[in-house]
Amino acid sequence: MIAAEVADAVTQIRERTALVPRVGMVLGSGLGAVAGAVRDAVSFAYAELPGFPLGSVAGHARMLHLGTLAGVPVAVLEGRAHVYEGVEPAALKVPIRTLRALGAESLLLTNAAGSLAADVPPGRLMALTDHINLTAANPLIGPNDDTIGPRFVPMGAAYDPELRAGLHAAARAEGIPLADGVYLAVTGPAFETPAEIRAFRVLGADAVGMSTVPEAIVAVHCGLRVAAISCITNLAEGMSGVLLSHEGTLAAAAAGGHDLARLISRFLEDLPA
Ligand code: HPA
Repeated sequence: MIAAEVADAVTQIRERTALVPRVGMVLGSGLGAVAGAVRDAVSFAYAELPGFPLGSVAGHARMLHLGTLAGVPVAVLEGRAHVYEGVEPAALKVPIRTLRALGAESLLLTNAAGSLAADVPPGRLMALTDHINLTAANPLIGPNDDTIGPRFVPMGAAYDPELRAGLHAAARAEGIPLADGVYLAVTGPAFETPAEIRAFRVLGADAVGMSTVPEAIVAVHCGLRVAAISCITNLAEGMSGVLLSHEGTLAAAAAGGHDLARLISRFLEDLPA
């Protein structure tokens, strides 16, 4: 069923564009600015594409854009569905595998996240070195499609070191501070308690958020090279005395999103052929 949905989505997309993306992207909450920079974009609402899970959160558009960014053919998923919306984690296979089926080799995931590192404050960007999956879910649960990837997928190098080096080179070239860190995923929708954040710090987390990990797992499984960037929108709960809110997250993401857009453009521009 997933394979059929992916095939149908590809057919629909191919009716309108022959563009073969090199890089796929997922834009997180408040980080839609990059989508507006896609040149000669051919765009699809997720609602038009079979099996694409629809998010329901304000601040998340739901569009796929194919076009070029800094001269590189890209497929950009603007907006994502989250586990906290009641979306089955397995449903996230469809958009990610569609990008792969269209020809993407790499996937750049972005998100808004809370920082557990006091020296990485709101407005800063963090390249993910690894993740901790505390969602108690895995999108690959269920039958495995052996034509797509293995039943037991190794996650030892989930975040591609070469792509991350490329992100750091782009950040240096643009004068944008870029931290490294481990992202811990929860389902939400409740933000964390201060005690949870203290526990997550002991576990080795540098950032916390409600997305990205299911997509990274699906992407590694289907052979995409993965890079991910968190836009830090707040210090994690209990670190600043400010109670968290979705509105606050969106506003901070829009501010940090400016650096993110520059970083992504430079990263693509300097991508080795
Ligand atoms: N926790 C979880 N998700 C988030 C946060 C946070 O502090 N900030 C942005 N997304």
